[in-house]
Amino acid sequence: MKLLVINGPNINMLGIREPGIYGKQTFSDLLALLERTAREEGLEIQQFQSNHEGEIVDAIQAAYGKADGIVINPAAYTHTSVAILDALKSVAIPAVEVHISNVDAREPFRQLSYPGMYCEKTIKGLGLEGYRQAILYLKEKYGK
Ligand code: DQA
Repeated sequence: MKLLVINGPNINMLGIREPGIYGKQTFSDLLALLERTAREEGLEIQQFQSNHEGEIVDAIQAAYGKADGIVINPAAYTHTSVAILDALKSVAIPAVEVHISNVDAREPFRQLSYPGMYCEKTIKGLGLEGYRQAILYLKEKYGK
């Protein structure tokens, strides 16, 4: 099974950015978790991080016919990006949304998720563990 994990803007700053909200684990720790999970679960996991909305749209389009599932943390684009929502709908690949922080308990503008309108599940507030949970969910449901 091939999964694509997409991270949006500033996720590469994990460990440095607002550790009180996002924790002390770094982006390298996240990459290591993805590699470990791929090995343990016998999955092929490709990772893509970008600070640019159009590049995320391009990565979703490029996954068409290639990825069996998408795990996406659109970061700030969660709350603004109809383009990412439409890209997910275009490729119609099963997707799970992840947020490291508990967005429900934060500012009102973080309560709306455009990509979340497509995703079949949203995991929030579990830190990096949320990515593992999202991967396990997709493996359980769509693994072959
Ligand atoms: C985030 C939550 C978003 O509101 C924020 O803009 C981020 C990260 C999270 O993982 O908790 O950049 O997606």
